[in-house]
Amino acid sequence: MDPRLHVFKSEHQLHRECAEAFVKLADEAIRSRGSFHVALAGGSTPRKLYELLATSEFASRIDWHRLHIYFGDERCVPPEDAASNFRMASEALLNHVDIIPTQIHRIEGELAPAEGAEKYEHTLRRQLPRKKSGMGCLDLIHLGMGADGHTASLFPQTTILEEKDRWVAAVFVKKLAAWRISLTLPIINQARAIRVLVCGEKKAEILRHVLCNIPDATPLPVQRIDATGSLMWCADQAAAKHLHQ
Ligand code: 6PG
Repeated sequence: MDPRLHVFKSEHQLHRECAEAFVKLADEAIRSRGSFHVALAGGSTPRKLYELLATSEFASRIDWHRLHIYFGDERCVPPEDAASNFRMASEALLNHVDIIPTQIHRIEGELAPAEGAEKYEHTLRRQLPRKKSGMGCLDLIHLGMGADGHTASLFPQTTILEEKDRWVAAVFVKKLAAWRISLTLPIINQARAIRVLVCGEKKAEILRHVLCNIPDATPLPVQRIDATGSLMWCADQAAAKHLHQ
């Protein structure tokens, strides 16, 4: 079984461990580089992690003024829309911690998709520390995974999967009949640490497929992650029920 897979007794245990890792990685980054650049995932799974990070048990251990918050993807909606990943993260975490507002780098989903993607590309190129290669380097990216193997807004059979140069792109997702803005594989792969959070029985089959099946001619988006840093699959027992450790 993939050594990068960590199975937790419950979703709550998974979120507690991810919160501990967030504190540890933030501390390490701030100690060695003076700041911590972290991208948040959207969807519903990470909400409980963000709520945990907002509790005094964890928030008191993070030097929020040294953090820069980014988003792995965004729906092309205004920030106050119920579907907005920024709104979810703000309600669960960002509105409750002492982070410097200008260090929350929101994807402007209210703009025309191509314009929002272009602006976010400039934001990342301005804000992110660089590797020797010139590539931007996030310290940590949280990702989720859909039942079709998508991650961030990298959906199967979409052109964004072939993006080699841009760090951010807009993509029309036919199955959702909606535009999204997403980090691309080149920038995701450069992160120092990637954590993919997978919870619940509904993800059991796709998790088995992704971790046990050799990718076929067209690997699923999440199988195309080729991390240069660490990648950890964080699953609860419900999602891991078809896997044998
Ligand atoms: C989004 C996310 C997306 C999400 C998966 C899993 O904007 O929805 O970026 O990639 O992580 O769809 O979503 P759930 O956590 O809600 O199952």
